[in-house]
Amino acid sequence: ATSARAQAAAFDFEPIDIATDFDIHVPAGYQWKPLVRWGDALWSEADGAYSPETGVPADMADKVFGENTDGMELFSIDGKQVIAVNSEYVNPKINLPAASEGMPKSAEEVQLLKHMQGVTVMEVADSGDGFAVVKDSPFNRRIHHDTQMVMDGPAAGSDLVKTSADPEGMTPLGTMNNCGSGRTLWNTYLTCEENFNGYFGATGEYDATEGFKRYGIGGEGRYAYEKFDPRYDLSKEPNEPHRHGWVTEIDPADPTSAPIKHTALGRFKHENAAMVQAADGRIVVYMGDDERGEFMYKYVSNGTWAEGEPTDGLLSDGTLYVAKFNDDQTGEWLALTPETTGMPIEEILVHARIAGSKVGATTMDRPEWIAAHPLKAEAYCALTNNKNRGIKPNAGGDETPVGGPNPRETNNYGQIVRWTPEGDDHGAEAFAWDLYVMAGNPEVYDNAYGGSANVTPGNMFNSPDGMAFDTKGLLWIQTDGDYSNEGDFAGMGNNQMLVGNTDTGEIARFLTAPYGAEVTGLCWSEDRKVAFVGIQHPGGSWPDGAGKPRSSVIAVWREDGATIG
Ligand code: FEO
Ligand code: CA
Ligand code: CA
Ligand code: CA
Repeated sequence: ATSARAQAAAFDFEPIDIATDFDIHVPAGYQWKPLVRWGDALWSEADGAYSPETGVPADMADKVFGENTDGMELFSIDGKQVIAVNSEYVNPKINLPAASEGMPKSAEEVQLLKHMQGVTVMEVADSGDGFAVVKDSPFNRRIHHDTQMVMDGPAAGSDLVKTSADPEGMTPLGTMNNCGSGRTLWNTYLTCEENFNGYFGATGEYDATEGFKRYGIGGEGRYAYEKFDPRYDLSKEPNEPHRHGWVTEIDPADPTSAPIKHTALGRFKHENAAMVQAADGRIVVYMGDDERGEFMYKYVSNGTWAEGEPTDGLLSDGTLYVAKFNDDQTGEWLALTPETTGMPIEEILVHARIAGSKVGATTMDRPEWIAAHPLKAEAYCALTNNKNRGIKPNAGGDETPVGGPNPRETNNYGQIVRWTPEGDDHGAEAFAWDLYVMAGNPEVYDNAYGGSANVTPGNMFNSPDGMAFDTKGLLWIQTDGDYSNEGDFAGMGNNQMLVGNTDTGEIARFLTAPYGAEVTGLCWSEDRKVAFVGIQHPGGSWPDGAGKPRSSVIAVWREDGATIG
């Protein structure tokens, strides 16, 4: 009675069972195929650049689709469909020559890795045989760790972000660890810099500041960048890490535009950015900081906006807030200002975590994606898991007591918190919250670890991460969790994408990923007949069946040609 099939009536597809294989599965009546894989050419000059044995050569790394696809958005521009999509990080054992044994051995190998990450902007079109990348489109663009950017907002130009290459602190290079995404109401792309700390290391003495500790900066860089590029060397450029960890805006309609790092939105390990509007027209951006025991934030602009009006200042002049959740299912957004924190504004923004601690923000179970309901004033955040809840604080961070929307110690399964702003106004400072779902395993546990009532043996999952609402108000949930299918995770199988009805609570499994992969990133074609889904770090030789595994964006559609969201 609790099988996947029993839930079929709630949705217009038949929910699927778990999988443990190296393939994608979708419901009966649906089809899928890869749209673009790591290494696929964006320009003709990169045709044949990818080799199943050796990957992509350094001089072609910024001419092909990047590695480890993540957040993405589709834009309609002059009758064309253009996707902007993140490439979060690299898998050096797969991406580097075998002789490197997983660590770059030269500046050229560092460049290879740098150029495989960042953002891809690409035109896509369906020329009768399903969607494909439009090679050589004037919209195609690769943005990576060396791309010229600009900064705006109160921390731009401050002493904290000045370096020897940029003494004005206004023109940083590169966007890195691009995780989740967002879009502005004026149709630009927001790419969110997450685990930037891991790219920095030291070849000599450096000052391990409170800020470095709180953000996990120090020691050895995960890809040895600092050995070949002084920009990543903390002993040479101690302010370079302050130029990363921002929400960065890219105009997909103008391939010559410089991406803009918006310091007003705060610096932390950004998951994604969900933009909505306050009742009075101010711009509101909800954001999560994905680390155990860190916080949820929102930015509210000072200026208001309506369709067709100029957008200047909307993401550079406003107030950053941090969330406090009370046990009685109320909560409030606490403003981070010089008055509330005792810190200068540029310090507040560069070290938002420290500012959040000063005002008593609530430590969360790793806030991943936030999605705002398109039809009512309601938003959702995936709190993916937290093995340390109630046990020990984040380095330099706050104690992490169990409570509020983080009700379990040793939270291996995760939950999704929902909040409704007071007066149905996203500009309000008060809200009410509840848990939309608490993931768990009802076949292993009959306590809180069995999950909330809408979790059944037929739909169970762990570690919700990516989330997006479709136009009908259904919540699509993507997982990045334990795919061992054993012990606490028995019966959950590979990572997956589910669909939730947020009115009834019902949740049904729509797609299963190949073994090893997480599912992350979701957008739709203009006509909503095709969903584009990101498959990151697949195992085996997916999707080619031989050679290296290739992170890919896939297209999913209904055989009957109806819309799917
Ligand atoms: Fe890049 Fe928090 O996921
Ligand atoms: Ca994520
Ligand atoms: Ca995750
Ligand atoms: Ca990931």
